[in-house]
Amino acid sequence: GMQPQFIIIHQQVAPYVAHIQLNRPKELNALNLQLMSELRDALKALDADDTVRAIVISGNEKAFAAGADIKQMADKTAIDMLNIDQFSTWDAIKKTRKPVIAATSGFVLGGGCELAMLCDMIVASETTRFGQPEIKLGIMPGAGGTQRLTRAVGKALAMEMVLTGRMISAAEALQAGLINKVVPVELYLQEAVNLAAEIAEKSPIAVKLAKEAVLKAFDTTLEEGLHFERKNFYLLFASQDQQEGMQAFIEKRPPVFKGK
Ligand code: HXC
Repeated sequence: GMQPQFIIIHQQVAPYVAHIQLNRPKELNALNLQLMSELRDALKALDADDTVRAIVISGNEKAFAAGADIKQMADKTAIDMLNIDQFSTWDAIKKTRKPVIAATSGFVLGGGCELAMLCDMIVASETTRFGQPEIKLGIMPGAGGTQRLTRAVGKALAMEMVLTGRMISAAEALQAGLINKVVPVELYLQEAVNLAAEIAEKSPIAVKLAKEAVLKAFDTTLEEGLHFERKNFYLLFASQDQQEGMQAFIEKRPPVFKGK
């Protein structure tokens, strides 16, 4: 297809790991509609690519993303927004079945924070600041901010962030359970790639079904979630990777997973 303009795709940054870099640095990676479409297309392609088992999304040191593109939204009416239907792009991104890790530094704001929360894990530099500043623009989060942030950090902090727009530090985000890890700024991308590489050594089938089961916990009852988990658990006993994983344990050797 056409070369993307606002993202860069790096293949094999570690075995079976791909890296997508958001690349509108002058605009602090503001997420315009084209960038989001390119991101959706890239994730779809990588999700279907057998040489990829885990994906890292980053921005740059100054910004993961400072939110949706305010200049693109400023003159829109409600009906324009409805017709543009940008959230179908977000819904497609959400359907990525391989694990996606956000590597963040600098500003992670508004839609940027929502994109990071749409990822499965977040590795942050010490200089990262997370926020939902939409309230300062006379709007509110629209891509999951009120829901995913609240589930991640609880009512008190989510309410405060969404109603005041206050940014929180990486340390505060770690303490609140929003993110997985905080590392010095020189290391955040490598650390995210390392985490992806560790997952990419596992059976990609097991990883996919396990991710799906964890996500299920966010939108169902415990009883249904347990039922869903059990089906995925049983299903894995149809894979060669299950046989390989258990045989390797018994033979005291490292397993080699083939995704079959
Ligand atoms: C468009 C943006 C932008 C954004 C920054 N820029 N954020 N353009 N949309 N969200 C542009 C600025 O206009 C400027 O370009 C350049 O990037 C550098 O930004 P500065 O403001 O000069 O940098 P700085 O003084 O360091 O301040 C950084 C900042 C500030 C605190 C992050 O840029 C800021 O407040 N940005 C907006 C953050 C925000 O409100 N995000 C939520 C958006 S609404 P020029 O050419 O002017 O110099 C949202 C809704 C999501 O995300 C809904 C679902 C998709």
